[in-house]
Amino acid sequence: MHARSHYSNTFKTRLKMVDRMEEMERPEDEKEVGMKITAGRKSSRDMLVLRSLRVKWGENLVLDGIDLELNVGDKIGIFGPNGSGKTTLVKALIGEIPATGELWLAPGASVGYFAQGHETLDPSITAEQQMLEVLGKGERLRARQLLARFLLKGKDVERPISTLSGGERARVALALLMAEQHNLLILDEPTNYLDILSREAVESALREYPGTIVVVTHDRYLLDAVCTHMGELRNGKMEVYAGNYTAMKGQRRKTVVEETVVYRVVSNFKNWTLGKKYNAGEQITIAESEMPTFEWAFNNGKLKRMRAGEMKKVKK
Ligand SMILES: Nc1ncnc2c1ncn2[C@@H]1O[C@H](COP(=O)(O)OP(=O)(O)O)[C@@H](O)[C@H]1O
Ligand SMILES: [Mg+2]
Repeated sequence: MHARSHYSNTFKTRLKMVDRMEEMERPEDEKEVGMKITAGRKSSRDMLVLRSLRVKWGENLVLDGIDLELNVGDKIGIFGPNGSGKTTLVKALIGEIPATGELWLAPGASVGYFAQGHETLDPSITAEQQMLEVLGKGERLRARQLLARFLLKGKDVERPISTLSGGERARVALALLMAEQHNLLILDEPTNYLDILSREAVESALREYPGTIVVVTHDRYLLDAVCTHMGELRNGKMEVYAGNYTAMKGQRRKTVVEETVVYRVVSNFKNWTLGKKYNAGEQITIAESEMPTFEWAFNNGKLKRMRAGEMKKVKK
């Protein structure tokens, strides 16, 4: 991100935030084993291969041998309970945190990453300006068309990013990823803050996207309409199914992805059952069965349900 100068202010702010965090910045690096990045002996259809991928945060072995093989054009939807390591897996994939085992990416892979919190946007410029930096100055029409696909129109794209709602910023970030022409998208809960219409816009863009996608989501419609594979993370392992959500459900004969509700963290707390810290401002997707473990947080006013009005600002 240092190289992308227009992000540098955001980046500095993030660095300061990171400095203040008491959490570990990187998980344990297991020096002896180390990460094997292998080339060759993969078929030309392979896009991403993981073998025995392990990630440890201190003593906590979060990912305990993840295996995965994605071909070009595969779209895997990854789900699992809070704290099961979905974000950890995504960060290992993009190389933000160290892991051991084998991680292989196709030589021509160009990775586009969507983080929970989408902190890579420059708050001081408009969506249109950000888009023009990607597409080139003369591409105003295409910039507008791409943003409109994500239901960003008129004044939305002419205001500084800092004045947009969380949901609008998420859509700007996704539109930028599409414009950047990556062939592998790695997305961490991209439809969380979105109202129904925006959600459908994002889903249709992802469905038509010709490249490979790794998407963490609880959005059942996205899992069904977009994904060709399912990955269920639990207790450090990932079970992979070929087929969409409905197909997987048929095999399992029970509901595996529960209804979820998105909450905003009002002030920092730790969920002791999950052993996971949550910071103010973060959003958590909580499933019905996880509610009891968040009871303390609810009773102490740590969580506020996101209402549609908060997810999308009303425009004049
Ligand atoms: N920066 C960190 N420092 C220490 N432990 C962490 C850190 N980030 C995540 N963890 C731990 O890793 C586990 C998985 O977290 P995470 O990948 O965020 O799960 P998910 O995205 O599935 O909710 C949790 O137990 C969490 O406490
Ligand atoms: Mg997460």
